[in-house]
Amino acid sequence: MKILVLGSGAREHAIVLALRAESTEHELFAAPGNAGIARDAAVVPVDANDPVSVTDFAQTHSIDLVVVGPEAPLIAGVADRLRATGIPVFGPSKAAAALEGSKAFAKRIMEAAGVPTGRAVRAASATEVTAALDEFGAPYVVKADGLAAGKGVIVTTDRDAAVAHAEAYLPGGPVLIEEFLSGPEVSLFFLSDGDTVRPLSPAQDFKRAEDGDAGPNTGGMGAYSPLPWLTEQFGSEAAFVDEVEKTVALPVIREMDRSGTPFIGLLYAGLILTDAGIKVIEFNARFGDPETQVVLPRLTTPLSRLLFAAATGTLEDEPRPEFSDRKAVTVVLASEGYPVNPVTGRPITGLADAESVADVHIAHAATNDSGGALTATGGRVLNVVATGDSFSAARAAAYAAIERIGLEGSHYRHDIAARVAGD
Ligand code: AMP
Ligand code: GLY
Repeated sequence: MKILVLGSGAREHAIVLALRAESTEHELFAAPGNAGIARDAAVVPVDANDPVSVTDFAQTHSIDLVVVGPEAPLIAGVADRLRATGIPVFGPSKAAAALEGSKAFAKRIMEAAGVPTGRAVRAASATEVTAALDEFGAPYVVKADGLAAGKGVIVTTDRDAAVAHAEAYLPGGPVLIEEFLSGPEVSLFFLSDGDTVRPLSPAQDFKRAEDGDAGPNTGGMGAYSPLPWLTEQFGSEAAFVDEVEKTVALPVIREMDRSGTPFIGLLYAGLILTDAGIKVIEFNARFGDPETQVVLPRLTTPLSRLLFAAATGTLEDEPRPEFSDRKAVTVVLASEGYPVNPVTGRPITGLADAESVADVHIAHAATNDSGGALTATGGRVLNVVATGDSFSAARAAAYAAIERIGLEGSHYRHDIAARVAGD
C-alpha cells in the first residue's frame, strides 16, 4: 500500500515503524516528519495542515490511505477534503474532532449517550467560577474549552490557583469546572469506521514532568502497556475492554452518528477508574502520545489493514486486533526547561549506542538532521521504547539505553512503570 502519515512526533514515528515492520512492500510517505521518520519513510514537502496540499499530493501519488497523527490537521479540515475527494483517510472530520477540541461538546455527547463522566458546569464569569469551585470543593479541576496544547487543565487544591487559571482563559469563553475524580488513569484506544469499533490494548501515561507525579502537567513523559493490574480488578484485560466498549465507545460512536458527525478514526478514551466505576475524563480524536509508542509494538494484527478498514467503513469484517504478551515501556527524553520553556537546537549524541541495547528502539519526537548532525527541535525529543518478557526487563533496557544518549540539560523520569515492575 501507499500510505501517507501526517505529523512530526514520536506517535507518527511509531505508526510508521509499525507499518514498516508489517511489510517491506508498503511505500510510506510522511509530512512533515522528523529526522527519525525520514529513516523509515519518504519525507515529502506537503503542508500537513493544508487540506489542498495534502489532497493534491495524495491524488498525484495515488495514495491508498492517509493516516492523520495530530489534531491540528483534523481541525483544519484535512480529513474532510480527502474524504470528499474519495481518498481513504484515517481521521475524523473537523466537526467530529470537536469531541477533542471542545470539552463542552464532548460533555453534551456523553450526556446524550449516557456515558459516565465527572459532573461539570460551564462558568462564564469570575462569579460563576468561584460559585462552581465552592460547590464542588477541593481538589479543584478547571478546564479551558478548546485546544490548549495540554495546558488548558489544572488540578489543584489551591483555590487561588484554580481561580487564576480560570480567569486566564475566561476572555476566550466559558471554562468548565469539574468534579475531581480519584483513581488510576487508563488510556484506551478504539478504531472506528463511524459505526463499528475495535479496541486496542490499554496503556498508562505519565503526565507530570517529575518523578513521583510531581511537577507540571506535560504532553506525557512515558507510558507502559499492558496494565496487569486491570486483570486483578476486572478478571481480565478483555473484560475491562469489553466494559469500556459497551459503556463508553459504542454509545459515543452511535451518538456521534445520530447527531450527524460520524466519527471515523481513533477514539481515545481517557478514563479514571473511580470507586463508583469507570468514568471518562476526556476524549481525543487521535492516537495518544506517548501511549501509541507502547501499544503499537505489541500489536500483532497488521496495522494498515485495521486503519484501511476503519477508513473505508469495513471494520465489521475485521477480527478484534491481537496483541503479544510482551511488556512495553517508553521513557521520554525532554529538553532542558520542558514543559515551561524548552531549550531547542542542541546536539544529540549516542543514539546508535542507545539503539544497540537489545529489545530497544527509538521513536523520534522532535529531531532534525542537518548533514548528519542530529539536533533537538522541541520539548519532547526522543522516546526510548523497550519491550521485554517482564516489565522489569523492559524497564532495565529502556533506562540502560536512555543513559547512553547525550543532550545537554535534558531530563527524563526515572519511575516509568516502576510500580508494575515491582522495582
Ligand atoms: P486532560 O487534558 O483532560 O487529559 O487532563 C489532564 C490531566 O488532568 C488528566 O490526565 C488527569 O490526570 C487530570 N484530570 C482531568 N480531569 C480530571 C478530573 N475530573 N479529576 C481528576 N483529574 C483530572
Ligand atoms: N498522552 C496524552 C495525549 O495523547 O493526549
